[in-house]
Amino acid sequence: MVRKKLVVGNWKMNGSRAQNDVLLSALKEEGRDVAVEVVVCPPYPYLGQVGQALEGAWIALGAQNISSFNAGAYTGEVSASMLVDLGCAWVIVGHSERRSLFGEANEVVAVKVRAALEAGLNPIVCVGETLGQREDGKAEAVVGEQIDSVVSALGQDGAAKLTVAYEPVWAIGTGRVALPEQAQAMHRFIRARLDLAGVAAEGVRILYGGSVTAENAPLLFVQPDIDGALVGGASLVAPGFLGICRAASSMAA
Ligand code: 13P
Repeated sequence: MVRKKLVVGNWKMNGSRAQNDVLLSALKEEGRDVAVEVVVCPPYPYLGQVGQALEGAWIALGAQNISSFNAGAYTGEVSASMLVDLGCAWVIVGHSERRSLFGEANEVVAVKVRAALEAGLNPIVCVGETLGQREDGKAEAVVGEQIDSVVSALGQDGAAKLTVAYEPVWAIGTGRVALPEQAQAMHRFIRARLDLAGVAAEGVRILYGGSVTAENAPLLFVQPDIDGALVGGASLVAPGFLGICRAASSMAA
């Protein structure tokens, strides 16, 4: 099956109204030739601004996190329906920074993914092992468990609607990108794991994340199970992000 490539920019906790304007203008002006699906995920307070700037443009809007709850007395939380209301089509769930710094366990991630799907958002579920887990030979066990927990909460049909992002924690923000073969091996493992659970895995896009740049993207994108990228640092700079988008579009089916 041919899967369309997808490039997602995760701005993390970066940006300002002024910086966002500069970045978005450059992306819109200079990226007219990009022929691939692209999403940017700014921090919550800028979703309105970025959504407006992207109206009619080739870039879709996503958020970086979502509440497990629908509405009510949950101070500081942002619901799935609010994200839809602001024009989001996508949401990142279970990023390793949410898991390690904010205590999001597999169970919470699964509930959030379900909330996203129920609201009509496309969830991008992040999975990945730490360096210690990889060195201990536990990378597949950790990632397999992360995948299983989402699949068991969603069921086979729900899980077929997921986008997965494999982000080895040791590659995030370190400049140490996974070797293309290393990433491919884990992507194949994830697809096989989904398949084993009865999910229509051939249609599930699996993105790689962790120190992706315009330079290393082409070697990652030629791997048969790497369907795009979840980009952190390089998504904050227009030429770098557009370089990654172009690498994907040159390989787009
Ligand atoms: P970097 O691209 O900065 O390594 O971040 C990856 C990431 O965490 C994207 O979600």
